[in-house]
Amino acid sequence: MKVIDGKAAAAAIRAEVAAEVAALSFVPGLAVVLVGADPASQVYVRSKAKQTVEAGMASFEHRLPADIDEATLMALVAQLNADDAVDGILVQLPLPAQIDAERVLRAIDPAKDVDGFHPVNVGLVATGTGGIVPCTPDGAMALIRSVQPQLDGLNAVIVGRSNIVGKPMAQLLLAANCTVTIAHSRTKDLAAVVRGADVLVAAVGRPEMIRGDWIKPGALVIDVGINRVDAGEGKARLVGDVAYDEAATVAGAITPVPGGVGPMTIACLLRNTLRAAIARRG
Ligand code: GUN
Repeated sequence: MKVIDGKAAAAAIRAEVAAEVAALSFVPGLAVVLVGADPASQVYVRSKAKQTVEAGMASFEHRLPADIDEATLMALVAQLNADDAVDGILVQLPLPAQIDAERVLRAIDPAKDVDGFHPVNVGLVATGTGGIVPCTPDGAMALIRSVQPQLDGLNAVIVGRSNIVGKPMAQLLLAANCTVTIAHSRTKDLAAVVRGADVLVAAVGRPEMIRGDWIKPGALVIDVGINRVDAGEGKARLVGDVAYDEAATVAGAITPVPGGVGPMTIACLLRNTLRAAIARRG
């Protein structure tokens, strides 16, 4: 059984990005917009800013109060679209209820949409004709390829159908010639579906929901979940969507939580920003 080291893989991507950035005649810029004070989002945004600067790029942070209206946010997006120093725009999700997140995502210039959430990029990725690939599926795919470069004909099961992870993950695995199943909360006999997976991607956000005896011996298990659970004595512990200790006795390879898919997301975001900068500025 192999434990897939996402920390090392992410560090390698960041080093590549930094080397390419250093060779450019301009400084790529990433703008991150955070609305409100969701604690998890604040942690992500801080890490993004730090790693952006470490890669030699400019980080522009925009923090807005939770009660702003949609028009204010749309005006900021328009300003960032027009700003030549900004190559990538990321609006941190989730957004407060009074804001239509889909409308905001559609307002981002697709060429600067380093999250890959704009319908134009979603469509390009779905048709295999280019586009910006969402960061978490991109990172998960890199980890899959690191242990299994040849995926032709394998059964891939994705648990979770979000726009951020599940759906784009399905497109990438399909493009890699897997037979793809997307399972979700209404799936009948989820355990049986998961047992058919040569490649399993868990992205449901339910702590340790996927048990070891659901996993096909030798399967490649990618755990996208990051769940904070009570560890007693007022402490919290991070666990994935897969019951790791059980799964590790059956799987051929598995990503740990933390240290698996998590670190890959920002590394792929930096790579998307570099690519967007080169595409836009030549
Ligand atoms: N919230 C959780 N993950 C993400 C992400 O990858 N991008 C954005 N914009 N928000 C998120």
